[in-house]
Amino acid sequence: CGIVGVIGNSRAKDILLNGLDKLEYRGYDSAGIFLENGQETFLVKSQGRIQQLKDKLSDDVKGSIGIGHTRWATHGVPSEANAHPHTSQSGRFVLVHNGVIENFDELKHTYVQADQFKGETDTEIVVHLVEHFAQTENLSALKAFKKTLSVVKGSYAFGLIDTENPDAIYVAKNKSPLLIGLGDGFNVICSDAMAMLKETNRFVEINDGEIVVVHADGISIEDKAGNAVERQPFVTELDASDAEKGAYPFYMMKEIDEQPAVLRRLTQEYANLDGSFSFDAELLAELQASDRIYIVACGTSYNAGWASKNALEAMMNIPVEVHLSSELGYHMPLLSSKPFFIFLTQSGETADSRQVLVKVNELGYPSLTITNVAGSTLSREAKYTVLLHAGPEIAVASTKAYTAQITVLNLLAKAYGNQNGVKAAKEFDVVHELGLTATAMEAVITEKETIESSVKSILASTRNAFYIGRGEDYYVAMEAALKLKEISYIQAEGFAAGELKHGTIALIEKGTPVFGLINDEVTGPHTRGNLKEVESRGAETFVISSESLAKVGDQLILADVHPYCRALLAVVPTQLIAYYASLHRGYDVDKPRNLAKAVTVE
Ligand code: G6P
Repeated sequence: CGIVGVIGNSRAKDILLNGLDKLEYRGYDSAGIFLENGQETFLVKSQGRIQQLKDKLSDDVKGSIGIGHTRWATHGVPSEANAHPHTSQSGRFVLVHNGVIENFDELKHTYVQADQFKGETDTEIVVHLVEHFAQTENLSALKAFKKTLSVVKGSYAFGLIDTENPDAIYVAKNKSPLLIGLGDGFNVICSDAMAMLKETNRFVEINDGEIVVVHADGISIEDKAGNAVERQPFVTELDASDAEKGAYPFYMMKEIDEQPAVLRRLTQEYANLDGSFSFDAELLAELQASDRIYIVACGTSYNAGWASKNALEAMMNIPVEVHLSSELGYHMPLLSSKPFFIFLTQSGETADSRQVLVKVNELGYPSLTITNVAGSTLSREAKYTVLLHAGPEIAVASTKAYTAQITVLNLLAKAYGNQNGVKAAKEFDVVHELGLTATAMEAVITEKETIESSVKSILASTRNAFYIGRGEDYYVAMEAALKLKEISYIQAEGFAAGELKHGTIALIEKGTPVFGLINDEVTGPHTRGNLKEVESRGAETFVISSESLAKVGDQLILADVHPYCRALLAVVPTQLIAYYASLHRGYDVDKPRNLAKAVTVE
């Protein structure tokens, strides 16, 4: 979910709506805003997208203080009743929330009458509690809010307004992201700086456990113990225009197109002209002192971990394990004696990954977060951060963050291996190879129409599809299948080509699309054999192969690139395939159903 708020600005309505537009990637099954104009209050909510909310708003709805929310449902179906903001029984308090209140059921039974609830969310109890404490204990809004926070368990970023004294927005956070933005004569709150870039580039971070009272002309921060905290704002380098899609119909295509430029930018950022690298010397030393690397991630970032494993092991000479955050957090494997944890996370906010990092910190192990978002939670809490410099990624289906992650890991492994005399690293001319890869990516991108026309027929109406490959190609197949599932809703599986015959081949029938990835000289011929096996059973095959391994009839030929860069290149056509499959099946490419870009709940 995403939350926004503004105080002290007569354009509050526009600021909230624009902010929600920018946060829609965080959830889009319902939305709502609350506004107060000195005399009247307005609460408007709607199921569906922000546009549906806008359609419901008349010109009379306005104010200079307000809060807004866009929801990704956890507890309770997407509906108007479950949409935020939520109001207390008397209507005095209004609240937006991002996160999950774990003890909401228990709190409901302890404090509040069942008939007060309008929906089924875990949030609503919180606003009722504030009113309950304000009334029964005759507390001020701030004190009632604090008391509420003392009984609430879970993750949250809250924005609360007391309509009896609408001169403040009360804010608190635990685990969920939240920033305060400083305007000229007004202030804002937001889950992500991008939401407020039109209004300000100066933001103040909030730590877990702190409470902030935001007024139009200033803010006051208190820590858990009630001590006042002074914190200087930081100036974000994000550019509002980076978050616009310009002439593109969807962000996803813009982001696919940006990948060659991201590779070049990363090379410039981390590889210096004199052959040295600009990674933290302490980070490299700490990696050197470790005996095993644990990559921890979710979704596409997890797939990027796999796609980087071989290059890391070869150039660093350290074993690498790749783990799903949601599994590792609760079932830590037997760790090596000197583990080093690398968190891959585009957003830097994924709750599943963060809970692992909290444990890693408790255990005292070193950690690195590789993320696209400077100042994000996982960046702040890991010992080291390396940034992806990919520019804002808005489409829910991740593309340029995946390739940026693999690129950064290649650069890091090269820097480490050079320093430690590892032969494979010394032989890998990373700047040259990434440059060739970027050019090869551009060549694929210019062939998008060809890909579009082939995919139209193959994926127009199929229920399922397979990507198969071995080694690096298998790892790319995992990501290719995830992309296809996410945005085209085709049931897709990325499979180790050789394993297909041991069971899953039973699913192949006449017309089943099977995409074969053939970019590895050792395993490529075997994958070809596996493609023949599925063809004999009626599958419709589509071969993506690199030039030196290509055969007559292959549908798409990629340039030959260095083995460590193969995944970077091979993933691009699969992103385009997913894009066009989604487009021609008539879906919203950027905002697939049921998903959100940053999932800040476990
Ligand atoms: C969500 C998104 C995925 C993403 C995953 C991990 O589920 O829908 O696209 O890969 O989170 O996100 P992260 O920001 O940690 O890379």
